[in-house]
Amino acid sequence: MPHLVRAKISGMLPAGEEELIRVSTDLNQEGEFGTQWVIVTDKRLLIVPTTGLDSVVKVPIDELTLVQTEALVGGGRLNIERKDKPTIAVPYSNSLAEKFSEVTRGIEQLRKGGAFLINTQLDRTRCDKCGKLLPEKNGICPACIRRLATLQRIATYLKPYRKHALLLTAVSLIGMGTAVVPPMLTRQIVDGVLVPTGEHANEMSERLALLGLLVLGLIAIRVLNWGMEWAHGWTVSWLGARITADIRNRLYQQLELLSLQFYDRRQVGAVMSRVTRDAGRLQEFLVEGLPYLIINTLMLIGILSILFWMHWLLALLILIPIPFMLGWGVLFWKRMRLYFNKWDQAWSDIMATVNEALSGIRVVKAFAQEVREIATFGAQNKKIRQLAIRTETNWEIFFATTTLLTSFGMLIVWFFGGREVVADTLTIGTLLAFYAYMWMLYEPVEWFGEVNSWMTRAFAGAERIFEVIDTPAEAYRDPAARPISNIKGEVSFKNVTFGYDKSKPVLHEIDLDISAGEMIGLVGRSGVGKTTTVNLICRFYDVDQGTIEIDDLPIQKIRLEDLRSQIGIVPQEPFLFSGTVAENISYGKPGANFEEIMDAAIAANAHDFIVAKSDGYDTQVGERGSELSGGEKQRVAIARAILHDPKILILDEATSSVDVETEKQIQEAIARLTQGRTTFAIAHRLSTLRNADRLVILEGGRIVEIGTHNELLEKKGIFYELVQLQQQTSEIIAVKE
Ligand SMILES: Nc1ncnc2c1ncn2[C@@H]1O[C@H](COP(=O)(O)OP(=O)(O)OP(=O)(O)O)[C@@H](O)[C@H]1O
Ligand SMILES: [Mg+2]
Repeated sequence: MPHLVRAKISGMLPAGEEELIRVSTDLNQEGEFGTQWVIVTDKRLLIVPTTGLDSVVKVPIDELTLVQTEALVGGGRLNIERKDKPTIAVPYSNSLAEKFSEVTRGIEQLRKGGAFLINTQLDRTRCDKCGKLLPEKNGICPACIRRLATLQRIATYLKPYRKHALLLTAVSLIGMGTAVVPPMLTRQIVDGVLVPTGEHANEMSERLALLGLLVLGLIAIRVLNWGMEWAHGWTVSWLGARITADIRNRLYQQLELLSLQFYDRRQVGAVMSRVTRDAGRLQEFLVEGLPYLIINTLMLIGILSILFWMHWLLALLILIPIPFMLGWGVLFWKRMRLYFNKWDQAWSDIMATVNEALSGIRVVKAFAQEVREIATFGAQNKKIRQLAIRTETNWEIFFATTTLLTSFGMLIVWFFGGREVVADTLTIGTLLAFYAYMWMLYEPVEWFGEVNSWMTRAFAGAERIFEVIDTPAEAYRDPAARPISNIKGEVSFKNVTFGYDKSKPVLHEIDLDISAGEMIGLVGRSGVGKTTTVNLICRFYDVDQGTIEIDDLPIQKIRLEDLRSQIGIVPQEPFLFSGTVAENISYGKPGANFEEIMDAAIAANAHDFIVAKSDGYDTQVGERGSELSGGEKQRVAIARAILHDPKILILDEATSSVDVETEKQIQEAIARLTQGRTTFAIAHRLSTLRNADRLVILEGGRIVEIGTHNELLEKKGIFYELVQLQQQTSEIIAVKE
């Protein structure tokens, strides 16, 4: 926010008036490109233009009659309707539409005097700073990276290996020296031994001695160079492997600790590419790119000094092709960057297609859509093929052109240098040294055009990694939280409101007190918020309003680890890890002995089917449990939840995939188990909940009925209707049979 605007606004707000929303538009009042600020406080709405600061519009909240957005071509308008006064319209372009609909929701909440809940983390498709389209949703803008800050942060990864980094620098510098010296020695060989001039001209023995010395020198330098190359290679691999492993570890650690909210907003594929691709790019930059850049810059300076010292005019002349080479390089890389981006995109598209089509291969086959999937793949593959051809041809052209340009340099040396040799103002040795240095000079220049795009890529990768690392993790180590090793299992919801998107609550003002050991049945239509309710008990998400208390303690005050280790959950879609049945049952309690595992399996009515398999408890379940039936998977999941003896047991449609007979057995087992445990059971098959102490009926995100099975039946309310409906359907089926 510009300083002037900020000063203006802070002058306008009296003490005690709280600023709640601050957004900027990208159009001014006349609909041209420009900025206006919309500020919403608990009492007023201000519209502040950046030019003409005196024309601030102030509207008290209680003067508003309606605030709404209106979609227009290419943009929209925030219409602020007031009592007995003309409506104010604030225009914005399409890229801000989502933001303004959220703002509207917030203002309306204030106007109606309800809770103020808006979503401050909207999906970003454009950069906040420069407005450019982002390469991926909520991603990093490559144009706005603060390079120096990023570089400093990248360098911290080198810190633990300071000694090796220094060694790498030293080795590279010496290596550079060994590359620069040889042409000077060959110059001596030519001028002092082969075609000597001046005083040594005729002394054969002296010339031979010099030759021997110089060759020895060359050998020494070659050996030194070999040693340095070897040391360089070793340090680079040593450092590279460690740094990538460090970055990957740090990143994965963070990924495990991040909240579910983080994953709700992102594609798993994109997150995974950070662990693999971005970490790789960062490492490449650190141990290969950065030293290469530094060494080559130093080398260029060194060589240029030598060249100018030997013959400044000729040195100037061979610089002529360099601007052309640089210009050509910049042009070329600009184009290549485009191809590389397309290439990246095409690859991630094709990977997504393959991933989805193969994970969903059953659906593909069931609907006989193989041909369509093959065609989709074929089209994407063709795109990659075309890009491959274009990039390849571009490379060829690039190298051919650079070779042409460098050969001009060569001709300059031969022509002008040759004339001076003939005129005896330049020795042949110097000419040859010039020739050798010229190549060393041109080679890095070819690559300098790339440096920019290549650094951008590495920095963007680094930023993407840092973004993950900087996302606040779940509060596992919250020092304010209390360790509780033994909870009783009282759960109470106090005026709880929650929505995955804050401004669209799923649960409204839930009040519910559950005593320890009680079994609660949650009933309601699909999508009403049953799973959401239990998600909140596990603190997978934090409530937006109100509190959840366990044993009279706000859930945020309980150590997350203690909380979750005392909750056993059978999720709606049970997930098994590849491995054996026994390993899956003991997932939550890795050290469990076989007896415990078997007891849990018996309780979950899984024992019989497990021992009927040829490998018994050692049966492999396949990836995601794909080798088990739906009902078998559910029972393994129940056993897993039971095994670590939780104080709070959550069964989310836990028996939906088993037959009625098995369900009855599981219910009996669970009835035994639920003694002394608080249980939440969710089921669409209402007969399942007959054992529950109380049933809670949800409708529209609110609790509409609470009571025992019989009470609710007598009440003849919503629950009664639902039971009637289910009975009718089962009767119809019975009649048909
Ligand atoms: N991770 C999520 N992100 C955004 N919205 C979600 C998410 N999970 C659920 N929702 C939405 O919240 C609402 C409640 O979902 P919930 O899973 O609690 O329903 P449910 O009562 O368990 O339904 P069902 O009986 O079908 O399992 C639904 O409208 C759903 O679309
Ligand atoms: Mg559910």
